[in-house]
Amino acid sequence: MRKITNICCIGAGYVGGPTMAVVAKQCPDIKVTIVDLNEARIAAWNDPDVNNIPVYEPGLSEVVAEARGRNLFFSTDVDQAIAEAEMVFISVNTPTKTYGSGKGMGADLKWIELCARQIARVSTSDKIIVEKSTLPVRTAEAVRDILHNTGSGVKFQVLSNPEFLAEGTAVEDLLSPDRVLIGGDDSEEGQEAIAALVDVYANWIPRERILTTNVWSSELSKLVANAFLAQRISSINAISELCEKTEANINEVSRAIGTDSRIGPKFLKASVGFGGSCFQKDILNLVYISRSFGLQEVADYWEQVIIMNNHQRKRFALNIVKSLYNTVSGKKIAFLGWAFKKDTNDTRESAAIYVADELLNEQAFIQVYDPKVQTEQIYHDLEYLETRSVESNRNGVSVYQDPYEACDGAHAIAVLTEWDEFKNYDWQKIYAKMLKPAKIFDGRNVLDHKALREIGFQVNGIGV
Ligand SMILES: NC(=O)c1ccc[n+]([C@@H]2O[C@H](COP(=O)([O-])OP(=O)(O)OC[C@H]3O[C@@H](n4cnc5c(N)ncnc54)[C@H](O)[C@@H]3O)[C@@H](O)[C@H]2O)c1
Repeated sequence: MRKITNICCIGAGYVGGPTMAVVAKQCPDIKVTIVDLNEARIAAWNDPDVNNIPVYEPGLSEVVAEARGRNLFFSTDVDQAIAEAEMVFISVNTPTKTYGSGKGMGADLKWIELCARQIARVSTSDKIIVEKSTLPVRTAEAVRDILHNTGSGVKFQVLSNPEFLAEGTAVEDLLSPDRVLIGGDDSEEGQEAIAALVDVYANWIPRERILTTNVWSSELSKLVANAFLAQRISSINAISELCEKTEANINEVSRAIGTDSRIGPKFLKASVGFGGSCFQKDILNLVYISRSFGLQEVADYWEQVIIMNNHQRKRFALNIVKSLYNTVSGKKIAFLGWAFKKDTNDTRESAAIYVADELLNEQAFIQVYDPKVQTEQIYHDLEYLETRSVESNRNGVSVYQDPYEACDGAHAIAVLTEWDEFKNYDWQKIYAKMLKPAKIFDGRNVLDHKALREIGFQVNGIGV
C-alpha cells in the first residue's frame, strides 16, 4: 500500500485551514500544502504574525506557528500543489444555490466541479481525491465521472471524508475527534485508498475511532449528523416558547430531560437560534434531496427544523420591539456579539444578522460590539441580505471596539453570542450609562439574571 507523503488541500477556509494545519502538526513526515484562489486569504495565512491568520480558533495560531514552513505551506499555486500531491482534499465552499433549479434549497456544486476539472487537467500521476466538503449524497459519482474521462491514463480514487469539527473548538475536535469517517469503493483499489487515508489519521487517532463505510453512507451521514444536531436546538427552542407562557423554566427543563442517558445533556441550550454556514444549508440540502426522490413527508419533517429556527430569531426581535412599548424607531439597541457562536470570527447565518435586519426594518439604531468580528464583515453580512441600501445599513448600524461604548445611551442590550467575557463585565457601570428602564434581552441565557435585576435591569431571557 502506498504511504502518503504529499497532501494538497484545495480551500483554505474554516475547514481546510484548521484541518490541514492539524494534519501537518501530527504528521511531520507529510508535506501539506493548502491552496486557495483567494490571494488575500492565503496572504493572511502566511502573515509572519500568526495572530493575524484569517480564521480565529482557540489554539490554532500555535498549531500554525509550529508547522508552517516546516511541512505546512499556504499557496495560491493550485496547479502545482495538485500536480505534486498523492492525495488531494477538496475543502471548498458548497453554499445553497442562489439561482436556477434548486434555488434556495440544493447545494451549489459549482466549486466542487471546478476543482474536479482542475485536478483532471493538471494531474500526471495517480491520486486519491478526498471529499472533505459537505456534499449531497452521490456527489462522488459526478466527481468520478469528470476524473475518469480525462483520457490521460491517470487513475483516481474518490473518497468521502466529511469533517465533523465544530467551529470554536476546531483544534480540540481535530486532535481528539469522536470519530473520523471515511467512505470509499468496495473495489480493491477503493479499499487501498481507504487504507492510505486511515494511515494518515492513525498517526494520532486510535484506529477504533476511524470508521469506514461505502461512499454514499459517508456523504449522507454528514448531512444527517448536522440535521440531528440542529433538530435538537430547534426542539429545545420550540419548548422555550412554551416555557414563556407557562412559567416553566427552560434551563430546568433542559437539565431534567438532559439527565436521561437516552437523551444526553448536549445541544439542549435554548437560544436565539442556531447559525453557522452548515446547519441550515445542510438541512435544506437534505430536504431538497428528499423532495427530489418524491419523499414529501421526509422533506417536510426536516424542513420544520429550519422553520422553527427562523421563528425563534424573529420572535426574539419582535419581543424586543414589544417590550420597548411597540416601537424601536430612533432607539439605540446595543448588540453584544455578532459571531454565530463564541470563540469564532465566523458570522455566516448568525442569528445576529437576522435580528438586526428585523430591528432595522423597525428603524432602530444598532450599536454592535463583538470581540473577534471585523467591522466590515458586519456591514457585508447585512448587505448580503439586500433588504435595504448599503447606505441605510451603514446609517443604522455602528460598530464599536469597546463594549461599554456600544452600550452607552442604549435603550436595550441584546446578547446575540455567548462570549464568556460578557459575564464578567461591570454591569453596574453599563447600567449607569443606559437609558431607563434599562432592558436586557439575553438571547443566550448566559448572564446572571438575578444579579442584573438587583442592579435595576429589566431582563428577558429565552424560555425563562
Ligand atoms: N465551517 C464548518 O464548521 C464546517 C464543518 C464541517 C464541514 N464543513 C464543510 O466544509 C466545506 C468548506 O467550508 P468552509 O467553512 O471551510 O468554507 P470557506 O468558505 O471558509 O472556505 C472555502 C474556501 O475555498 C476556496 N475555493 C473555492 N473554490 C476554489 C477553487 N476552485 N480553488 C481553490 N480554492 C477555492 C474559497 O476561496 C474559500 O477560501 C463546506 O462544504 C462546508 O459545508 C464546514
